[in-house]
Amino acid sequence: MLFCLLVFCKEVTSQGVQGGLPFAPGQRYEVGFSVCTSYHANGSVASSVLYDECNSFCCGGQVILNSTNLDCCGSREHGSPYSTLYERCCSWWTGHGRAYSKFSFVGSVGCCGTSLIDWGQDRCCYGDSRIVPSVFQWQTQKCCQGRVLPAPASARPSWYADCCGSTATYDKRTHSCPCGDGNVVSGPSSRTTCCRSSNGATAPYISDSQICCNGAVGMKENRFCCGSLPVVGVVGESVCCNGKLAAVVPPNANLTECCNGSPYDPRFNVCCESRLLEVVEGADQCCGR
Ligand SMILES: *[C@@H]1O[C@H](CO)[C@@H](O)[C@H](O)[C@H]1NC(C)=O
Ligand SMILES: *[C@@H]1O[C@H](CO)[C@@H](O)[C@H](O)[C@H]1NC(C)=O
Ligand SMILES: *[C@@H]1O[C@H](CO)[C@@H](O)[C@H](O)[C@H]1NC(C)=O
Repeated sequence: MLFCLLVFCKEVTSQGVQGGLPFAPGQRYEVGFSVCTSYHANGSVASSVLYDECNSFCCGGQVILNSTNLDCCGSREHGSPYSTLYERCCSWWTGHGRAYSKFSFVGSVGCCGTSLIDWGQDRCCYGDSRIVPSVFQWQTQKCCQGRVLPAPASARPSWYADCCGSTATYDKRTHSCPCGDGNVVSGPSSRTTCCRSSNGATAPYISDSQICCNGAVGMKENRFCCGSLPVVGVVGESVCCNGKLAAVVPPNANLTECCNGSPYDPRFNVCCESRLLEVVEGADQCCGR
């Protein structure tokens, strides 16, 4: 039925429309005529068809002859034609729509965006308003900012599952998501922190055992931060000289301080106005005497 209508319409509208349209989609070509455009999922134009607005309408890029029982479920761009007699339309304000047999809507069945949902069993995952909602099973899935993700196997039913940003889920008894950025870290939230860099980057870390150097995370033992560098230094391999790392060659874990660009051992030397002196009175001996 629908197919016949479409074929008929194409014949009617294809006159004078050989080899594509000489105008942009949506532009009016002639009074009463308009262009019906369909789009690929990536947003590029898939087809453009000229049609007569007086006896037909455009629905999701298809031209449909006016008929007593066909309407558009959704918008001209993203909808789909449906029978008002036998079907009911589930549409979202983005213009996406899909119709289902009226017999499907029994009991607690309704629409969730463009999907069918049995509200007695499942839930509807709403997010950012530009995302068409989708159905999810609350026992095994989580709705994370409009995206349905599987709950971790250890957290089903999902009481103990939580979302980490919009890309990951975790078991909040054993893991955490201190930055809310999709990076899950082992350890409950009481033990973890977010390491933020000055340029806004984030990385989660375990505050007991790790250090955070302007966005970079490393193990705490034998590691150090140098000024505002986003780097974790390794004791013995480098030292921090005025906010820059200088290599210790050959590696020597005793050389932990820097004097005028050179590593030194603070047990034996002290740096006085960029000059290395031997420790005489202790590491805090006065410089300049
Ligand atoms: C969009 O998708 C269609 C069909 O999948 C493809 O032919 C076309 O090249 C794509 N266009 C762009 C800009 O990616
Ligand atoms: C056909 O449908 C269009 C769009 O719904 C409407 O504007 C037009 O008046 C209709 N024409 C007829 C003849 O029913
Ligand atoms: C570092 O200091 C310790 C104790 O003074 C010494 O035994 C060791 O040899 C030193 N290491 C190096 C590489 O000089």
